[in-house]
Amino acid sequence: MNSLDVVDPDIAAAIRGEIQRQRENLVLIAAENFTSQAVMEAQACVMTNKYAEGYPGRRYYRGCTYVDRAEELARDRCKALFGAEHINVQPHSGSQANMAAYFATIKPGDTIMGMNLDHGGHLSHGSPVNFSGKLYKVVPYGVNKDTEALDYGEVLEVAKSFSPKIIVTGASAYPRIIDFKALREVADEVGALMMADIAHIAGLVVAGAHPSPVPYADIVTTTTHKTLRGPRGGVIMCKEELAQSIDRAVFPGIQGGPLMHTIAAKAVAFKEALTPEFKKYQFQIVRNSQALARRLMDLDFELVSGGTDNHLMLVKLLKEGITGKEADETLERAGIALNKNMIPFDPRTPFVTSGIRIGTPAVTTRGMLEGEMAEIADLIATVIRDIKNDETIASVRARVKALCERFPLYPELG
Ligand SMILES: Cc1ncc(COP(=O)(O)O)c(C=O)c1O
Repeated sequence: MNSLDVVDPDIAAAIRGEIQRQRENLVLIAAENFTSQAVMEAQACVMTNKYAEGYPGRRYYRGCTYVDRAEELARDRCKALFGAEHINVQPHSGSQANMAAYFATIKPGDTIMGMNLDHGGHLSHGSPVNFSGKLYKVVPYGVNKDTEALDYGEVLEVAKSFSPKIIVTGASAYPRIIDFKALREVADEVGALMMADIAHIAGLVVAGAHPSPVPYADIVTTTTHKTLRGPRGGVIMCKEELAQSIDRAVFPGIQGGPLMHTIAAKAVAFKEALTPEFKKYQFQIVRNSQALARRLMDLDFELVSGGTDNHLMLVKLLKEGITGKEADETLERAGIALNKNMIPFDPRTPFVTSGIRIGTPAVTTRGMLEGEMAEIADLIATVIRDIKNDETIASVRARVKALCERFPLYPELG
């Protein structure tokens, strides 16, 4: 019996339940993935015990030889992955990476321009309920009403009218390629800094399946746990001239001791991301996403912007006469985990919504290919088109379980 079972059988049981849930359900949440066993081993290591305020070679505590090594490896590998001039691997999360980026460059009351949350932006890009919307004056930009994609001419018009200090690009629910060069031109035209938050697409960027913002943006932030397939956390990349301000904004600005076990796990994930297999995996994510999108459209579903170029898609449910909330609740009962999502110009509230977001990073990690994507589209359609029928839901649940069994997850966990 392992010690967790003895010390805390309740948590041990919850963890076992979670392993089972991940194995038996189709995870289509675009922000989720399954890390390798090696990443989890690093994350569960003795480095959790170590205080290491400061940076390698400049710590406030003794005994940092090995955690310094871990942080240096994480930084060097991340630099090799993205080609950025300076890297900070300490942010505890994507939101904290963004907070540090703002603190390093602008003052409370300054104007930031970020993508409208309802059009796919993230809370930390200026939502009124988030620190970013409370500390800064926020000017949102959105997608074009007809194309449901970004129109960089429209973004320029907004920027010219409000002269933001910083323009934030990047999104949580945007299915198209982002033209970072065009946004750099907008930023230059109005004298703003450009920040690119690639939390969702970082893995695609590493592989070349999405253009990189690194040559264009002053600051690039990301999470490490989505397409990048690492532990939960954040990273900031920047030009050399911002390096000191960024490092100071993270520590002592907004964080204390870094999570050294997580930084070790980030280093492992970055090593994995440097392999040719990881690149292949990223292109497969996109192929899978496009296969799933195509099948859904063949089944007469309407997708925001008419498809996808990346790892996710947004399905509009207005025509089906159901809400995103009804859809995601019922799909969960059928063993399909995804999330309700606002669609551009959504008439409903964020808690109800008129759409769902579907992503392929996690199912692609399990080894599923285009054929399985068509099967998944059929399963989703079956539930949505017969949403009140418990028998339908039960039969889809059984088919989902059978599909998952064909792609075993974490067999080494017993
Ligand atoms: C674009 C974007 N930025 C930042 C974040 C925040 O990351 P975290 O949840 O680690 O704070 C997310 C999370 O979904 C995101 O989608």
